Amino acid sequence: MSTHPLAKQLRHYLQFTDLTAEEYAHVFKRAAFIKAKFKNYEKFQPLTDRTLAMIFEKASTRTRVSFEAGMYQLGGSVVHLTTGDSQLGRAEPIEDSARVISRMVDLVMIRTYGQDKIEKFAAHSRVPVINGLTNEFHPCQILADIFTFIEHRGSIQGKTVAWVGDGNNMANTWLQAADLLGFKVNLSTPSGYEVDPAVVGVRTPASTQFFNDPMQACEGADLVTTDVWTSMGYEAENDERKKAFADWCVDEDMMKVAKPDALFMHCLPAHRGEEVSAEVIDGPQSVVWDEAENRMHAQKALMEFLLLGKV
Ligand code: CP
Ligand code: NVA
Repeated sequence: MSTHPLAKQLRHYLQFTDLTAEEYAHVFKRAAFIKAKFKNYEKFQPLTDRTLAMIFEKASTRTRVSFEAGMYQLGGSVVHLTTGDSQLGRAEPIEDSARVISRMVDLVMIRTYGQDKIEKFAAHSRVPVINGLTNEFHPCQILADIFTFIEHRGSIQGKTVAWVGDGNNMANTWLQAADLLGFKVNLSTPSGYEVDPAVVGVRTPASTQFFNDPMQACEGADLVTTDVWTSMGYEAENDERKKAFADWCVDEDMMKVAKPDALFMHCLPAHRGEEVSAEVIDGPQSVVWDEAENRMHAQKALMEFLLLGKV
């Protein structure tokens, strides 16, 4: 395969570790700037004539709307593909799809199953590829979550995040973020649903602490967060998981042992009465609606960074 001239400066966003701490500081600043423009109804279109292809192999509400609306607001346009309505569902090799799609668009966002699939696509793409969720990682969500934390509480450095629930794509990405940006994650998962910091490349093991009891994980935390008990792709385990996770519901008792000004986040969609009680997600410490909206602002900053660099 010949190397495209753009390949040298090509940056993908496949895992949280694909940007440096310094680049995150830049992206968070740009996200605030871009959000202010949006709130003031000021046009901001640095990506005029650029096209984003979005490939969904799993369902989505937030990721689709935030990328699609975000790209239009930046002056660009969007192509939406799913497995069902493209050749992706008819076994065209990923490498070929990547070569073809990336000759026609400027940026690709993919939501799929295995991380290996998105890595393979990126390896054969001429344009930046963004991870819109894989079984292993959800970096765009943590980007928005940290931006939301900063908006409400300032820098996340030195703070403690309590993760209660499944050791899934969100948990893995929190671990990478804590390691890179210098905060701590207290993790409590039921037995059999743990994460492995080494597998996700954590270099400072002290950034992660494990607790059998979710209450202990929440003690003194600045942010308490959770996610569904059954992620997309694991539906066959639903009944088994409901039993295993019964004690991992974030409720008011858990929020009481966190810091008095602790925030609650959930990437959504949520199931009230399972991973979180209605009192918590609809209560005063919850910032889940800001968190969802910030997907769009943070991803607009990310797309600007990947296509235009540090402006
Ligand atoms: N949080 C999130 O990624 O939501 P969607 O599945 O609706 O995109
Ligand atoms: N962990 C969840 C997140 C959904 C946005 C999943 O992968 O289904």
